Amino acid sequence: MEFDGKKVLITGAASGIGRATAIHFAAAGAQVTIGDINAAGLEETAGMMAASPNVVPYDASDFDSCRALVAAAATDGLDVLCNISGMMKWGPSLDFSVEDFEQVMKVNTTSIFVLCQAALPHLIESKGNIVNTASAAALQGIAYTIAYSASKHAVAAITKGLAIEFAAKGVRINAICPGHVDTPLAATPPPQNDDVDWSLVMRNSPKLLDGMCDPADVAEMFAFLASDRARKVTGALFSIDGGQVAG
Ligand SMILES: NC(=O)c1ccc[n+]([C@@H]2O[C@H](COP(=O)([O-])OP(=O)(O)OC[C@H]3O[C@@H](n4cnc5c(N)ncnc54)[C@H](O)[C@@H]3O)[C@@H](O)[C@H]2O)c1
Repeated sequence: MEFDGKKVLITGAASGIGRATAIHFAAAGAQVTIGDINAAGLEETAGMMAASPNVVPYDASDFDSCRALVAAAATDGLDVLCNISGMMKWGPSLDFSVEDFEQVMKVNTTSIFVLCQAALPHLIESKGNIVNTASAAALQGIAYTIAYSASKHAVAAITKGLAIEFAAKGVRINAICPGHVDTPLAATPPPQNDDVDWSLVMRNSPKLLDGMCDPADVAEMFAFLASDRARKVTGALFSIDGGQVAG
């Protein structure tokens, strides 16, 4: 199988895209470590996987916990890191608190840097790779979503910068930019505020008739980018969005 013997760390695996990606990699033969803040959700995911994973709860906003997650996943080496944990908060910018802005940046951006930093020595050893989760919100501005969009633009920047820095050491780093995916995060309740102009939010919706992605669609892209089939791909942002950001 494609990932036989490969050691793969997947964050955000208690739900949505992370769960589907964990299921996909286990079915393809990988030895998977799954991390998330939601320990019960991780156990549920473990029960859906073809082989028992290493289950490691962690909190992305606690950087020592991020480093401990990588250490637990890499006791015997590490081939692939899939950074999928993330959170969403949105609302009119005049009312959006600086505390909420900083929390989104910490969970969606700084933790990604810390996890990459901790994983890279192992990936240099294995000539492995990283697949980050950016977003359509990394490629365009979205009203009322300034913190989330800033956090995902920063993930794109981390991806491209690290790809350049580590290419000569044989490590590939890419990111996926999903559009609307059917997960709990995408169902984060909208702000109840008369100031919200929905036409500004919906102007770049998916164009395909069935443009909303399933988590399994995105898992396929993680597997492709992590595999040797993508051996010439690094520093790239791959959209899977039903045409959402095409125009
Ligand atoms: N669903 C979408 O439409 C969409 C679109 C573009 C990008 N994304 C990105 O995809 C990724 C996965 O999201 P999803 O849609 O599967 O949502 P989800 O809510 O199903 O999964 C997100 C996971 O991240 C975990 N998480 C949140 N905060 C954490 C923390 N502090 N520490 C550890 N884990 C934490 C949650 O527990 C959850 O299991 C996120 O990075 C998200 O920003 C989602």
